[in-house]
Amino acid sequence: MTQQIKTTLRTIHQPVQGGPHFSLNNSLPMDQYLATDPTSRFDTWLHFIKTQRVESMAEVGVYRGDFAAKVLNACDCISTYYMIDPWRHLNDWNKPANKNNDSFNRYLEETLSKTEMAASRRVILRGKTTEVIDEIADESLDFAYIDGDHTLKGISIDLVATFPKIKTGGFIGGDDFTATVWQHSASFEPSLVFPFTVYFAEAVGATLWALPHSQFLMRKNRDREFQFIDSTGEYSDISLKNQFSPRNYFKAIFKEKKQKYTRILRKLKWR
Ligand SMILES: C[S@@+](CC[C@H](N)C(=O)[O-])C[C@H]1O[C@@H](n2cnc3c(N)ncnc32)[C@H](O)[C@@H]1O
Repeated sequence: MTQQIKTTLRTIHQPVQGGPHFSLNNSLPMDQYLATDPTSRFDTWLHFIKTQRVESMAEVGVYRGDFAAKVLNACDCISTYYMIDPWRHLNDWNKPANKNNDSFNRYLEETLSKTEMAASRRVILRGKTTEVIDEIADESLDFAYIDGDHTLKGISIDLVATFPKIKTGGFIGGDDFTATVWQHSASFEPSLVFPFTVYFAEAVGATLWALPHSQFLMRKNRDREFQFIDSTGEYSDISLKNQFSPRNYFKAIFKEKKQKYTRILRKLKWR
């Protein structure tokens, strides 16, 4: 029995090697595309959205609108693009992107201006995911890109709230799928996009791909069969024990101090 469980886990975590493992539809051999080594997350998502001919999508966490502008500019297949973001300071979000209200007002203006060319295709939903998600009908989205609050609280709320909005056979993608929870320094809340997304995919029976540039892609399956396909080879340990080991925590503190002292030294050097 134990042997059987081990074999299953090995199969689930083995990296993609050749073959059409990543056929999102029959005409898209995504693994061949990934083998071309896309230079950024933008390359990956523009390719994906165009090839899948996504019509209706949402972005959770829009910030200054850079991702939205690139996608709306390049992908005229999209007829509706929901932009979800509170564009306000959040007292319960301990992450570097949490700025003051004046900055967020400017970021919203920036987003509106960068996406003005697609004004008729965008829908602005200003609010936290929980405050605005029900403006979107269930089973109506081809794709959602989650790039908001990456803490355990944030990613769990975003996946649970967004999943029902996706059509069966549709997709959720996201950013900050980092092999370490200490993506930022130890004074910030850890990022739990990985491994929480793996647990979520298993709970709902989705197929999950780990992609380069800290991206993930999940398909909402009709047959509810879970699979985790790691195209990068970086995510073999999905447990939390090592993530929160004293060694890794102190490495994160050291990284923070190193950054601080490097900044000070740089300033002194320029004087
Ligand atoms: C990393 S930025 C997004 C970057 C953007 N997707 C891009 O690629 O250009 C994170 C954004 O998530 C938003 N955010 C934080 N908490 C949120 C929540 N609970 N619901 C929705 N958005 C949230 C923040 O306001 C911030 O603008």
